Parts: sequence; structure tokens; C-alpha cells
Amino acid sequence: MKYDFDKIINRVDTNCVKYDLRQQVFGNPDVLPMWVADMDFETPDFVREAVIKRAEHPVYGYHFKDEAYFEAIRKWILRHHHWNVHKDWMSFVPGVVCGFNMAVLAFTQPGDEIIIQPPVYPPFHHAISSHGRKLVYNTLIDRGDGYEFNFDQLVEQTKTAKMLILCNPHNPVGRCWTQNELLLLGEICMKNNVLVISDEIHCDLVLPGYRHHPFASLDKEFAQNSITFHAASKTFNLAGLATSTAIIPNEELRKTYVDYVEALEAHLGNIFGKVATQTAMNQGDEWLEQLLEYVQGNIDYVSDFLTENLPKVKFHKPQATYMMWLDFNGYGLSEEELWHKMTQEAQLGFNRGKDFGEEAGSGFFRINLACPRATVEEAMKRLKAVFGYGL
Ligand SMILES: Cc1ncc(COP(=O)(O)O)c(C=O)c1O
Repeated sequence: MKYDFDKIINRVDTNCVKYDLRQQVFGNPDVLPMWVADMDFETPDFVREAVIKRAEHPVYGYHFKDEAYFEAIRKWILRHHHWNVHKDWMSFVPGVVCGFNMAVLAFTQPGDEIIIQPPVYPPFHHAISSHGRKLVYNTLIDRGDGYEFNFDQLVEQTKTAKMLILCNPHNPVGRCWTQNELLLLGEICMKNNVLVISDEIHCDLVLPGYRHHPFASLDKEFAQNSITFHAASKTFNLAGLATSTAIIPNEELRKTYVDYVEALEAHLGNIFGKVATQTAMNQGDEWLEQLLEYVQGNIDYVSDFLTENLPKVKFHKPQATYMMWLDFNGYGLSEEELWHKMTQEAQLGFNRGKDFGEEAGSGFFRINLACPRATVEEAMKRLKAVFGYGL
């Protein structure tokens, strides 16, 4: 491999959430942190060089996103996901979470029902509850060989809901939704005028053998009835640069949304996010290919380890994302007991499952495998030492 993903980087004391907030989150500053979704890998050298070059210019004044910026994103999406996005459809948002919160505010009213599909990324829940909208859970079903949408329930729920926030691919269960699944979901939403917000931040992290389907690319009508969010932040480890893209083919929706974002002055962003995103989108193909190969190696390692050493821990191999969603319910322990064992005895900092859905996530942990193999090995060692009893 040209790029070194084995390199251990000390992130302590960089104001980084993953390492420097361990005491606050886990009540233990020594947990091995494998939670928040950024990577322990270096941002690619060519991206860092571009940012450093820009930083060397002595003025950091207001800037704008030019044609070259949107062209880099457009070409990336076309090259990797075969979706021909028109440049006018794209606009800057400072983050995907910020972006879908603004969509909730711009297109729904307090009291409106919004559907999400737990277990799902916690800010999906907050984007609805914190603005006085009504959460509707279309909980995913685990049929034994992986999670699926609950279409029967969705048909009923879309009769009264205004919006659905789709996680495509899905965090934390790692599903890369098939074309047929998305077509059915889209048709159900179209039929009932439910606006689809498709969070596609993990779309580039589709693992070997799978293919991402941008929701809006599947049908002209879906394109007119959706807002897609894309970012280079997960793919190239740029989350601290707060730079993402809203893609809105429908002119009327786009105008409403962009007016909303501009009224909040949220459309400016920072210079470094522009430079980093543009460079990553233009030059990142080879790096991403190697990243995915490495992450797949980590996933295979954990899968084999758990199967061999900790058979009570149930999981499905992810098809996308660098996360694994692990089910510890086989231990018959309470949520509190599990949390205590994980954080205080095993000293492992995984995400707590119930943050992704009180019921759907109870007894689960999400583990972030975007880290050097040595970290993964250490985590498995710690896990076995505490959970390897009574096999
Ligand atoms: C599904 C999903 N959406 C959005 C985000 C965060 O996006 P941003 O940092 O652009 O707000 C994450 C981060 O983990 C995520 O998993």
C-alpha cells in the first residue's frame, strides 16, 4: 500500500472529541476510544498540503465557493456513484447535521410527523424532537441475515407524516440499501407526498462488493421530492472543517432551502474546508481505494475474532461505513451493567447502542474501526478479557 494506515497518531490534547472528552463521556479517561465517527488515520498528504498552502497566505478573509469547487464535487459523484448532478442543484452547508436540521425547519411545522429508521445516528432523533416535531419510528427489522426496512409499517406512517430522514448507507447497521429497497421506499413516500431527506455522508465508504445508490438518482420523481446531503468529511477525515453539500434538483424546494440557509448566514463556511474538499474530490480516488481495503481488513479481523472468541456477541458484517454494530444482549446483563463492564472493566470507549434508539439499540454497542490494526487488536484483547467468560 502506498498510504500507511498502520501509523499510530497521538491525538491527545488536540481538542479532539474522541480522545479529549473521554472522562466526560465514559467516566474514564483511559478507555480506548472507538466511538465518534472520525478516523485515527492521517488526512491524506495531498489534502494537508493544499490546506497548508492556503494557510500560508496571510489573509483569512471572507471567501466564496467557486465553479471549480462545485465541479470537483460534481465529478466525484458522477465518477463514483454514476449520478449526474447539475451544478445549480448544489449549495454549501456547514455540516450534514446542520443541513438536515435546517431542512426540518424550512419544510415542516411544529407538531408535524417525521419518520426515521432506528437504530439510527442520534442527531436524526434530535433534529426532530428539539424543534418540536413529532418522531415517528419506522424501526428496522433484523430478519437474521441483516437489517431491512419495515415497509408495511412505512405505508401506514407515510399517510400522516411530512418527511422521512433516510440514512443511505445506514449508520450504525452498515446497510448499503439496494436499488429495489430504495425504489420501494421512494414510491411509498412519493405516493403520500412525504419529502425524503437522504443523508449520504457515508456513500463513499461502501465496502468492496457493494454499490451505493444515490436516492435521487433512481427516479426523476424522487429527485424532485428529495434533498440529498453529501460531504467529503467522513471519507477523508475532514469533519473539523465543517463543509458539506446540499443537493436539491427541485427548483422550488431549492429556493426555499437556500433562502433559509442564507438568512441564517450559514452559507459562507471556512476557507480551509473549501480547499480540502476540492482537493480530496479531485485527487482522492486512489487513497479511498486503499482506505476501504484497510477498513475491510479491520472488519474481517473483528468478525473472525468475535466468531471464534466471543460467540455471544452477535453482528452482521457491514456493507458500508467503518462501523460495526454489536449486539451484547446474549449476556443477559442490564444496560447499566453492560456500560459499566465496557467502560470501566474492559476500558473500551464504544458508542452506547441506546443513543441510536431507546429500544432498537438497547444492549448494543457501535465500534469505530477507522483506526490502525494494532488498535483493533488491543480492543479485541480487552473485550475478550472481560466478556470471554462462560462461552
Ligand atoms: C449519518 C451521519 N450523518 C451526519 C454525520 C455528521 O455530519 P456533519 O459532521 O457534516 O454534521 C454523521 C457523523 O457521524 C453521520 O454518521
